[in-house]
Amino acid sequence: MLGLSIESSCDETSVAILKDGREVLSNVVSTQIDIHKEFGGVVPEIASRKHLTNISYVVDEALKEAKVDLKDIEYIGVTYGPGLVGALLVGVSYAKSLAYALNIPIVPTHHIEGHIAANYISNKELKPPFLALVVSGGHSHLIYVKDYTDFEILGKTRDDAVGEAFDKVARTLGLGYPGGPEVSNCALKGKPTYNLPKTKFENYDFSFSGIKTAVINIAHKEGENLKVADMCASFETTVCEELTQNAMRVMKDYNLKKVVLAGGVSANRVLRNMICKEAKKSGYEAFIPDLKYCTDNAAMIGSAAYYNYISGKYYDIKDKLDLNAKANLKVGE
Ligand code: KG4
Ligand code: ZN
Repeated sequence: MLGLSIESSCDETSVAILKDGREVLSNVVSTQIDIHKEFGGVVPEIASRKHLTNISYVVDEALKEAKVDLKDIEYIGVTYGPGLVGALLVGVSYAKSLAYALNIPIVPTHHIEGHIAANYISNKELKPPFLALVVSGGHSHLIYVKDYTDFEILGKTRDDAVGEAFDKVARTLGLGYPGGPEVSNCALKGKPTYNLPKTKFENYDFSFSGIKTAVINIAHKEGENLKVADMCASFETTVCEELTQNAMRVMKDYNLKKVVLAGGVSANRVLRNMICKEAKKSGYEAFIPDLKYCTDNAAMIGSAAYYNYISGKYYDIKDKLDLNAKANLKVGE
């Protein structure tokens, strides 16, 4: 079964072709990072315009790479939220037109459910139930994945997302965008010598604005004396500990056996090592996505779309033309 999937929720225009939801025949990602770098973050209007100029080329390239003809595609999966609404609309409109022209079903797919599904591509034996620690530029969620299309949010950030905190800390320290990889690379040259605050709630929620503000305050106070590499190492270690400790708490309380890392921040070296090490210590299995499937890509959307499709979560495009982008779409909605 061949599916074509489209991702355009932020600053990557991506199209993939998957066979049976887990085999990637092509995954073309056209990133806009170099364009947005100049502004220190994603400029939504520019992102939408770039998606618009890129999308047809990316679709053509994905088909060419996969050596697949459009007539062999059985369904179109597309990210319809959450994300930047103008950016999402480009993918959604394109997907609707393509599905209409080919007279095949459209599978609206949740971006975060896609990040989780990246693990099905990288770990062929992985099956629900498991706990997913979803860490991206917009989300920090602990999600109980009961089945391929059945999700329950057990904890989430009360303020900043982890990736967002990495990006803001990078900006404060004079490092580039996106901040996660910059902070992590700089941390390699330092030691975690700064004492930064961690938060712990009665439930499984997170908070990252306190640690971000602490970094900003210390940076202002120390000025030129600030040891940037040590600060990066301190921030990275503290945040990864908070994420891992909270995830381990849920594993124990819910008597789960498998933990899965997902989202852009799952590319973080320290977090990948820490979650695997702590899981092993407690007798759990840990799964992480290949680096190329951590940040936004259409292959992960294709895998999530496949499971939606086989469980009947799709539209016949000729019956329902009003699929829209939803900027604040909730997991499991
Ligand atoms: O999932 P993603 O590509 O886009 C969203 O859905 O938000 O995640 C992007 C986020 C950015 O905040 C970026 O700084 C962060 O992931 N990120 C990292 C690393 N690579 C990307 N954060 C920490 N360490 C990394 N190696
Ligand atoms: Zn993402």
